[in-house]
Order: sequence, then C-alpha cells, then structure tokens
Amino acid sequence: DKHIGNAVMGVFGVPTVHEDDPERAVRAALAMRAALSNFASDVSFGMDISASGGAVYEHLKYLQLRIGINTGPVMLGEVGTSEEYTVIGDAVNVASRLERTAKPGSILISQETYHMVQGIFQVEDLGPVTIRGKSDPLPVYLVLGAKPRAFYTTGRGVEGVETRMVGRDKEIYQLQVALQTAVHTRKGQLITIMGDAGVGKSRLIHEFNKWIKNQEMDVSVLKGRSDSRLFQMPYGLIRDLVTTQFDIQDTDSPTAVEQKIVQGMSQYFDMPEQDIRARARAVAQLLGLAMSEEGINYLLPTQIIDKAYDYVADYFQAVIAQADAVILFLEDLHWADDSSYDVIEHLAQLCEKLPLLIVCVTRPQQTQTRTWLLPETADTVPFPHTFMQLAPLSIEDSRKLVLDILQKLPSIPKDLSDMIVTRAEGNPYFVEELIKVLIEDGIILVGEKEWRIQRSQLTRLRVPLTLNGVLQARLDRLSELERLTLQRAAVIGHVFWDSAVIHMNELADEPLHSSETISALHALEKRELIFPRQNSFIAGAQAYIFKHAMLREVAYESVLLRQRPAYHKQIADWLATKSGERVAEYASIIAEHYEQAGENVLAAELYEMAAQRAVDMYNVDVAIDYYGKALSLLTEKMHEVGWQLRIQEHLGKLLVQRSRLVEAAQTYMTMRYTAEIDGDLALQAHAWNGLASIQHEQGDYQAALTSAAKAEHVAWLVSANNELARALIFKSRAQQHLGKLPEAVENAQQALDVSQKVDDQQIVGEALGLL
Ligand SMILES: Nc1ncnc2c1ncn2[C@@H]1O[C@H](COP(=O)(O)OP(=O)(O)OP(=O)(O)O)[C@@H](O)[C@H]1O
Ligand SMILES: [Mg+2]
Repeated sequence: DKHIGNAVMGVFGVPTVHEDDPERAVRAALAMRAALSNFASDVSFGMDISASGGAVYEHLKYLQLRIGINTGPVMLGEVGTSEEYTVIGDAVNVASRLERTAKPGSILISQETYHMVQGIFQVEDLGPVTIRGKSDPLPVYLVLGAKPRAFYTTGRGVEGVETRMVGRDKEIYQLQVALQTAVHTRKGQLITIMGDAGVGKSRLIHEFNKWIKNQEMDVSVLKGRSDSRLFQMPYGLIRDLVTTQFDIQDTDSPTAVEQKIVQGMSQYFDMPEQDIRARARAVAQLLGLAMSEEGINYLLPTQIIDKAYDYVADYFQAVIAQADAVILFLEDLHWADDSSYDVIEHLAQLCEKLPLLIVCVTRPQQTQTRTWLLPETADTVPFPHTFMQLAPLSIEDSRKLVLDILQKLPSIPKDLSDMIVTRAEGNPYFVEELIKVLIEDGIILVGEKEWRIQRSQLTRLRVPLTLNGVLQARLDRLSELERLTLQRAAVIGHVFWDSAVIHMNELADEPLHSSETISALHALEKRELIFPRQNSFIAGAQAYIFKHAMLREVAYESVLLRQRPAYHKQIADWLATKSGERVAEYASIIAEHYEQAGENVLAAELYEMAAQRAVDMYNVDVAIDYYGKALSLLTEKMHEVGWQLRIQEHLGKLLVQRSRLVEAAQTYMTMRYTAEIDGDLALQAHAWNGLASIQHEQGDYQAALTSAAKAEHVAWLVSANNELARALIFKSRAQQHLGKLPEAVENAQQALDVSQKVDDQQIVGEALGLL
C-alpha cells in the first residue's frame, strides 16, 4: 500500500475480501523473509550482486525484516490532503506497533490474526506484551513457519475441545453403503456432496474416512483439495492429488519431484524404468511441477496433455487393481479450475467398470456448468453418480453440539444455548465461532478443569471476525448492481420487500430502473443469499428473507455510515405509506427506521403507537419497552414535555402492574421532575402518589407517608380532588402501619369526603375499606 519511512504497509482483503486473507498475509510475510534471506546469502557468496557493484553491497547481507500483522475492521478511502487511497484505523496502528515490537527477522501476529490462522502455522505464544499506545498488554504470537499442508486441518473448532459428530447418520450411512457396494460389485460411482461453508462437509468425510480405517476392507484412499489461492491454476486440484499421493513438497527440487513420481509409479507398473520416467515427466509437465533440464522439450504440449491424462488414469487403474476399492476424496471443488474438472470427468469414466469412488465436495456455486455439480442436472450425468445435499443441522443437533462444546460448564443457561443455536442457524462452524466470541469477550471464562460464565455481560452476540470474512467474501463477489441492491435490502431488515428495494433504488443518486432491481434480486436469489417468502404481509409486494441473519448484518455494516440515515428515512416513509390503515401493526418497525434516520419525533410517535397496541394485546412488557424507547427520544423542549408526562404516566402504571417497582419508582421520580418543569401540579401530585404506592409496597411506610403528604399538598393547591383523595388514602394506610391510628382514621375520613366530591366509586370503596 505505501512506504512510511523505512516501513512498507501491505493490506489484504482490499478491495476484495477473501475468507483466508489473514493466511495470505502470513504467507506473504514468510515469503518476504525467505526472499530476503536468499538475497542476503547471494550477497555473502558474492553472486550476481558483486558483479554489479562489489563492496557497496557488502552490508546488505546483514539486512533483516521485522513484520507485524493484525486483522480487524478499518476505514478505507481517500485520506488526508493528498487524498491517498489507503486504510486507517486502530487495527492498522496495532499492526504497526507489532512491527516495531518485533525483533529483527521475526514476524509477530496479534490475537485476532492468530485466531484466523490457527492450525495453519507453527507459532509461539509470547503471552501478553506491552505495546506502545495501548494501555493493556496485548497477546502476541511469534510465527515460526507454515505447518505441512494437511488434508483435514485442525484449525477449526474450539481450542482444547473434542466434539463428537452430531447428526449426519443418514449421510454417513449412504457413504458406507456406496463403498460396500463398490467393493462387492466392483463398480464405483461419483458422489457429489454439496453444502454451504461451514455446514460440515469436511467433517463428514473425515468421519467417513475414520470409519474406513476401521474396516477389514483393503481400501486405498487418495486425497486432493483445491485452494482459493490456487484458484484457476490449471490442474490445481489434480496437482494437489498427485503431490499428496507422492509426498511431493513445495521445496523439492525438480529432480526430487521426478524421482518421487517415478518411485510411486514403479510400485504399480511393471515396465522399464525409462518408460516410467517418461510417464512421470508427462504427468509432471501436465501439472506444472518443475522438471529436470533435459525434459523441457521432451514432447509437444498437446501430446503431453493427452498422454498425461491417460497416464494418470492408468495409475489409478493400477492402484485399484490391487485394492478392494479406491476412494478419491476431492475437497473444495468450488475453487477448482476447468481443467481439473476435465480430469475428474475423465476418471469418472472408470467408475463404470472399476470399484472407484470419487467423492467430490463443494459449496454451491452460481457459475457452475458441470452437470454433476448442480442439483438440478444431477440425474443427467453420463456416469454412475449420486448427489448429496448437506442441509443445516436440526435445532436439536445444534443444541447437542453447543452442549458438547460447553461440556466443561457446570450448567448451561437455556437462553445462552438458545441464543447460539438461533444465531448459528444450523451451521456448526457458526456455532463454534459464536462460542469463541463468548470466550474472547470474557462472557465464558475458560479454566483448566471447569469453565465459568460471567452472566452480567451477556447482551448480544456480535458477528465473529472469522465469519465476517466468510460472509464478506460472498458479498465482494457480487456485481455492483447486486451489491447495492443487497445493501439497501439489508437496511430494510432481515425480511424485506421487492417493491421497497425498487423504491430505494429509484431514489438513489444514480437511479436504477425497477427491471434492474428485479433482475438483481433474482441473481441474489440464485446465489442463495436471499430467499423468497410465501407470506408478504404487504399487498402487491414480494417478501424476501436473508439467508443468515449474520449475512444481513455484514451487508448492513458495509453500508456507509453517512448513507444510512437517508436510507432508513426512505424505508420508514415507504412502510408508513404502504401499511395505510394498518400502520399500528407496523408501528414498531417504522419507528425503528425513523430512529435510525434521526427523526426522533416521528420515531417517538410511532413507538407510542406501538406501545398502545401492545397494551391492547396484553403484551405489557413489550409496551413498557416501546414506551421507554419513545421517552428516550423526547427532549425537554416545551412542546414535548406534556407528551413526556403522558408517556410517563402510562409507563409508571404498567411497571407497577408488572411489579417492576424499582423502575417504576424511577419513572415517577422523573415524572415529578418533568411536571415541575411544566408547572403541572396535578401531575406532580400523581407522581408523588405513584411513589407513595411503591414505597408502601416496599414496606418503607415512613417514606410513603412523606410522599403522600407532598401529593396532598400540591393536589390541594390546584383542587385536584382525585389525586387529593388518593394522597389521603396513602397517608392513612402508612399511618396505620406506623401505629398512628387516630391520624389514620382522620385521613381515611377526609379521603371519603373528597372522593364523594369526585364521585369515584373505587376511591370511595377504598376509603370505606380503611375505615
Ligand atoms: N455434524 C457435526 N458435528 C459436530 N461438529 C461438526 C459437524 N459438522 C461440522 N462440524 C464442525 O464444524 C466446523 C466446520 O465444519 P467443516 O469444516 O466440515 O465445514 P465445511 O462444510 O467443510 O466448510 P467449508 O466449505 O468452509 O470447507 C468444524 O470444526 C467441524 O468439526
Ligand atoms: Mg471444508
């Protein structure tokens, strides 16, 4: 991105996010360090450089790098007077501080980065380190190097917790049967397993693989995985398959690579070594693995490719011939290139006549054209094929998973487990990440033997940084039109309406035609980011729902802060118009939008309406919530004070009704204060009476007596007889409890007199009761 003095800043995930940006950053750091050390040793050996300058470069051999890496949200844009396009923010500062803290030659990463690359790199935990500009020491990790590439990485999961697999019985069974059938009939098939990121595809085949190892059968298992970094590298997947099979490392010399293939192949082929070597070279060239010098012009490229295909197929055939069956696990096919698909189809022809099981694992992809990777066309595949769709876990299974991960908690509050289950929406990866957030945020305290919960801090679960990456990466792949449409939909809510988005798109600075919006919505639906809903509630509008609540949140977060209020206003106005006579039903939603739009008065009005509706429906707690929101939006401006008082009066009553006495007392105290500003003595009396009733309830009769006396005084001043009678009753009651019986009788008598004047039967009854 830029040079700052002697430093260089690199940013990853800008402008396009990848889910593995942190991993890419650490790999880049390791590569830079390696490159510098190669350079330094070249200098030491006097190669290249000495020829061009000699002694000047002598000191270069001591050159070393310090690298700091951090992950987090940043501000992206044109910054400062130079309008340089860059990133700023706390996350950037921490990275820079880490760099300055690092010893020469070392790479330091923050806790946030560590969480995202856990399992991929070897690191040393340096513990909390004091970093300039940060009051608390930060946990810091030293990167030692990359771990060997593993097929099933242990990077996921909650640290130190082994979980059992939940659910998936049907799928495992289906795979087991497929294998047994292949062994017995000596005919195989291609199986496609499709499911969303994190739903458990890798775990499923991992468990299946474990099962295979415990069987009597002699089954050879081969594994290959596509990689987002190798995206579109020709034959990338097959290359991975072959390198894994022959144990070829990135660091192997060309000769070593060739030797390994030759060795691997000779176990299966009974032919002269030079023929095997020829095959090895063809395969190596096909896969772009480095070759020995003399091999470069060995064959023409097209011939090589044709032959190499056959050589790979021959190899598999030979492996199968010696086993009961062969399984090819091909992971993450959504990142594979076209030529890899070609090879798979080529191999799939073998399934017809050999016990070869090809298990293809993929996320759903919109741009896919291969029939065997699409649910709709899975039946038309020209070789034996099964299509499996991996659905989200059931609520029950999700709950089991939560209990399993949190097994060290003595007890798990139901609302906590429900919160995780609801938010994860059946995705086990989301479950794990949400629990990690609870741990990171100190809500769950991890101990050696037992874990504990710090309940007080539990409010809402934020979107984990790791998931932010996964979800954001999906948004970054959208076209501009789709992205804008999805962002505006996200402002509307988890459920939104096509006509509302059309409306917003039409109002935009660069207006979009309704047909464009519709086609964008269809594209988003095809990408499975949103789904249509049966029930729309708003006539003539098609309702949609976001795939995940968290996806909506991430989309919403990507809407610029300064644009949000205007969007919220548009949608609030739209909803207010559309809901027409049924506005009360939507009042709370509209109110929220007005609130976000900064239209406080409108918002308060609608919250009050929503509260009244809730009262009508006996939903007292909800009503209390809305009244509270309305109040918080009103100010001490003259015209709003009377309004405040009205709400406070309702709120106080409802709080008492729900026995929420502390809050009720608080409300009456503010009410008294507001009434004082307003100069409304009757309402002051009402507030004092309210307080008196609560104090009585709480057993504080002395305080109740004082409050009632105040109520009596102000009510008397303006002849508010109703409040006056109530004040006298409260006084009488308090005196009774305080043992002041003559006074109690006198006040009750007075109350009866006053209440007859206002003809309030209830108060008359109460006064009589006291007497
Ligand atoms: N049925 C299950 N029971 C318990 N844990 C599971 C289950 N399925 C998945 N998990 C856990 O959830 C996490 C995510 O699963 P996994 O890595 O298999 O997802 P995936 O579908 O392969 O995702 P991706 O598309 O990103 O590769 C892993 O830690 C895995 O162990
Ligand atoms: Mg996976």
